[in-house]
This record gives sequence, structure tokens and C-alpha cells, in this order.
Amino acid sequence: MRFPPSWLDELRARADIVQVIGQYVQLKKNGRKHWGLCPFHGEKTASFSVDGESQLYYCFGCKAGGSVIQFVMDYERLEFPEAVKHLADQLHMPLPQMEDDPDYQRRRSQRDRLLECNKEAARFFHQTLFTPAGASALDYLKLRGLTDSVIRKFGLGAAPNGWDTLTKYLQEKGYTAEELKLVGLTVIKEAEPATETSPAKPRRAFDMFRNRAIFPIIDQYGNVLAFGGRALGDVQPKYLNTSDTPVFNKRLGVYAANLLRKERHLQRVVLVEGYMDVVSLTQFGVPGVCATLGTALTPEQAKLLKRFAPAVYLSYDGDSAGQHAILRGLDILEAEGLPARVLDFPDGLDPDEFIRRDGKDAFDALPALTPASYRMRRLRSEHDLSTQEGRTEYAKACAAILSKLEPVERENHLQELAVHTGFPREVLLQQIGLNASAPAAAAASAAHPQQPRFNPRRNSPAAQEQVRDEELLISLISTGRLPQDIASEEDFSDPLLQSLFAELSGGASPASLVEMQSDEAVRARVSKLLLTPPSENLDQLIQMARECLDRNRLKRMQEQLNEIMRSLNTLSPAEKSAALAQAKALSERMKELRHTK
Ligand code: CTP
Ligand code: MN
Repeated sequence: MRFPPSWLDELRARADIVQVIGQYVQLKKNGRKHWGLCPFHGEKTASFSVDGESQLYYCFGCKAGGSVIQFVMDYERLEFPEAVKHLADQLHMPLPQMEDDPDYQRRRSQRDRLLECNKEAARFFHQTLFTPAGASALDYLKLRGLTDSVIRKFGLGAAPNGWDTLTKYLQEKGYTAEELKLVGLTVIKEAEPATETSPAKPRRAFDMFRNRAIFPIIDQYGNVLAFGGRALGDVQPKYLNTSDTPVFNKRLGVYAANLLRKERHLQRVVLVEGYMDVVSLTQFGVPGVCATLGTALTPEQAKLLKRFAPAVYLSYDGDSAGQHAILRGLDILEAEGLPARVLDFPDGLDPDEFIRRDGKDAFDALPALTPASYRMRRLRSEHDLSTQEGRTEYAKACAAILSKLEPVERENHLQELAVHTGFPREVLLQQIGLNASAPAAAAASAAHPQQPRFNPRRNSPAAQEQVRDEELLISLISTGRLPQDIASEEDFSDPLLQSLFAELSGGASPASLVEMQSDEAVRARVSKLLLTPPSENLDQLIQMARECLDRNRLKRMQEQLNEIMRSLNTLSPAEKSAALAQAKALSERMKELRHTK
């Protein structure tokens, strides 16, 4: 989805960042910026700044930063288009005509209708739970130990025991049987002609969910996407779930995303397998619990979880299926760069059974295993450590795991491995060294792609100073108050700064430049850069910029000069005299520059 850039500019112009953020954070004016307690990390002194001039915010504590749209995305945990809509809504700005594509409009209105239909169904199920038609489902949920308050929190419901109660109800509200089928609430049985043994049967529409306890699946925007229905006893299938529909793809979302969104400062997400586990752990006061939707963890879900917390605790069932799913889950989380821990439940229990049996304190006391310890623990159960052969195989397999760790983490496990296998530390280290050769090393460097190199001497103090000057220059130019031609692209050696310069010269606003950055670290750097510099005075601004420019130009010329001098004795006589002429011209320009300073 693409908003017209001019419309976005208008939105940014109308949405005063100080006012918008002021609704979420108490701000106080100090100097030219507004300051408050950062909503993205816990703090006691205000290091969160909002700059009305550049329309950017930046936290000097946690380095969160960006435009007003970025703030709404991060605070409300919305994707870009949703954050834009949220702001437009607050400002009473009508959304632009999106695309002239009639198919887009059609799909959009179909989607809206299906979501509305699901919302009606969720309300129906929830209300039914507290009527006689829902009594058996309510009894069941109570039997499972759920309180009224957690039932309401998750909007749990009851599908009555009739054939088509919900279908009729929704048809009366104006939804067609086709729509109800499309969204997975209704099953249609086509008409059958009469046969010798049975009379003709008319086409019939009946409810997908009958006589079940209902778990509505709600996304982080509050849309009801689908339903899970739990049988009220030992009936198969135990869970009946909406299959994929135009509004639901079970590989993309997680159960309870709507509640996750509201939790602030989550240290970790607790990922479990079952709906009941989510509800139950939440009732016991565990924060940040969610579940996949009846499938193994997907990369898309891992990306989604990244938005909610900086780490994931895999808390799958203690049975063998769960244990297997943990290994796959760890691989996925690793590939997405999301740190993981494992909670290993004893006695084959699932999280719900465990917390009911042993309580919240026992849950909190479970060790959070690192992926390596968990993998080693699994290997231990697969090898017979009472035989020399078993210990050898086990040591080899563990060495392969440890070879991928950083040295300090590896050290934590080495001791343990030495004790379990009886091999001395040095032998194990040697084994790890073998494993760390070519393939593992290649994998490690693939996982940490090199930073783009813009200057081979980028870490030298001189190079760092140069980049600092370039940064100050960008910050000065972004005020839009310097003469147009004061600098050119060649004045920037850092590719990011060079591209920012090009965009600013092309008339882009600081806020839109920040939004363009998809990488979080880069975005933080850019936000900080584009905050208004401290000086008000135009002459002062220009002078600061000139000084930066001159310093850097001088430095570059000096380097060129050095380069020429170094190459002199490798040159032919003709080349040599050309090079010397160039050197002379350079040093004259340098003299001039020093003079005008
Ligand atoms: N599941 C499913 N269909 C099934 C069984 C399970 O879709 N026939 C999915 C559901 O999302 C369920 C999850 O897998 O929540 C975990 O299943 P399981 O561990 O078997 O159930 P529990 O969560 O323990 O459910 P309960 O405690 O209600 O028995
Ligand atoms: Mn269970």
C-alpha cells in the first residue's frame, strides 16, 4: 500500500509532533526542545527529546528516534500504513483515494465486510457464553479453572449446540451464505438429487462451530481474524480452527497479539503451543504470553514477535512433539536474529498443567536455558553416557554446537561438557577447533554480514573526526537555512551522509528522511543527526558549516598530496612531471583555503 507522498507531507505538517507525543508522554519545554521520560525504556530522568522544528524525537538514553509516524508505529505497535491511518483519523484528515485500482477497492471492501462479520460472530459467541445455550461451554471453562475476568479478557465464547444458530443470526444481519462460507463460519452442503434409497436433499448451510468453547483470534489492530473451537470433552477433533480465509493466514499471526500490543516494557515474549496455555499463564500473572496458531513457528511470526519484545522464551509442551518443535523454533529464531531461551517443563507437562500443579513461583523459578544448553540437554538424552562410545559421540555432537558460540559463552558450557564426558578441557577445545574450521566459519560470517565499507581507514581518529564534521554539516544543512550551494556530494565520504545530502538538496524533509530508513540503528543515527542544532543564529550556522567543510576539504587534499608523493618513484618521467604539477596545484589551493579561514 502506497500513500501519495504529497498527502504524507501534508499529514506530517498537520500532525505537530510535540502535540501528538504530548498525548502519550508528559513533556516540558527546556531550551528549544521538549523533554520527557522515554516511553520506550524505563527511566527516572528525562532524556527523551521532542523537537518541534525538525519534527523529530530522539532519546539520548535508548537511542530511539524518528518522525511522528515512527513514534506512533513504535508506541502503538502498528505497521506504517496503520500508523498513518491512526494519525489521519486523529487529525480528521480523509484518507487519500488509494490507487485507481477498482480491484483494490473491491478487495478492501470485501475484507472490511468479512472482518465486521467476524466481529459480530465473536460478540455472538461471547454473549452466548452467559446464556443457557452456552452453559455447558461455561461449565467447561470453569472446570478448566478459568476466572470470569480472564474469560472476558480473552473474549472467550460458546458455540451453541444447534445446526445453524450463528449462520441464521448473521444472515439476519445481512451477510450472505457465500460470505459466511468465505470467512469460515459456515459450511455449505450442496443439494443432492433423490436416489433409489434416499429422498432429494436441499442445499443447506450450517455452522462450522457447534457445541464448542470458542477462542477468538484477534490481531494487534483489534481485528477478529479467526476462531479456535475447543470440544467440551473427549470429542475429536479436540480443536477446530478456521482454515485460511481472505482475512486469515495462520502462518502470519500469533494468538493474543491484541493483548501483547498493550504490554509495555516487555523483556520477553513467552511463546506456548496452545490457546489454553496462553489463557492460563495469563490468569496466573505471567506477562507477554502468546501462541502460534496450530502450526510450527514460522519466520513471519518470529518477525512479528520481534516487534513486541527483545527476546522469546520457547515454552512448549514437555512431550516429544513439543521438544522437537523447540529445536526447529530455535533455528527459526536464530535465523531472525531474535535471542531465545527455552523453558523445559518437567514430567511431560504443558505450561497450563505445570502452572496449575506447581504455581506461579515454580514457573518463575524454571531455568531459562540458552539454546546451546537446551540442545546439549537433548543430545544427552539421546546418547548412552555410561559407555565410552556414547560419551565420545555426545562430545562430538556438543563440540559442533559449541563451535558456533562466542568464546565467553562457550566457556560456560565447556566445564559441564568435561564433567559429563570425562574428556579434558583441552581435548574438547581441540575438537571444537576442528569443527570451527571452514564451514562453520563461513556460516558465522554469513550470519554477520559485513558493514558497508566506505573508508578503509574508517576507524582511525582522523577518519572519525572527518565523519563527525560531515554529520554536523548534515545537521546544519537539514535546517534548510543554509545557502543552497554551500556543499556538494563530494564533501561526504560516508555513503549514508552522502545520500542524506542528496535527498535534502532535492527538498526532502528531515522527517521523511528518517522514515525512509528501514534499519533501526540507521534510523536512530539519522534522527539524532537531523535534530535541530543548538544555534539559532544564521551567521553562526553558516560559519560552523564553512569550518567543517574547510577542515574536511583540507584533509582530503592533504591525503591526495601524500598519495601523489608516495607514488612518485614508481612513475615514468612524463607521468612524474604531470604528478608534480598536480601536487603543486593542490598545495596552492590548500594555501588559499588556510588563508581564507
Ligand atoms: N491443535 C489443533 N488441533 C488439534 C489439536 C491441537 O489445532 N486437534 C492446536 C491448537 O492450537 C492447540 C494447540 O495445537 O491450542 C496445542 O494442542 P494440545 O497441546 O494438544 O492441546 P492443549 O493446548 O493442551 O489443549 P487442552 O489443554 O485444551 O487439552
Ligand atoms: Mn493443555
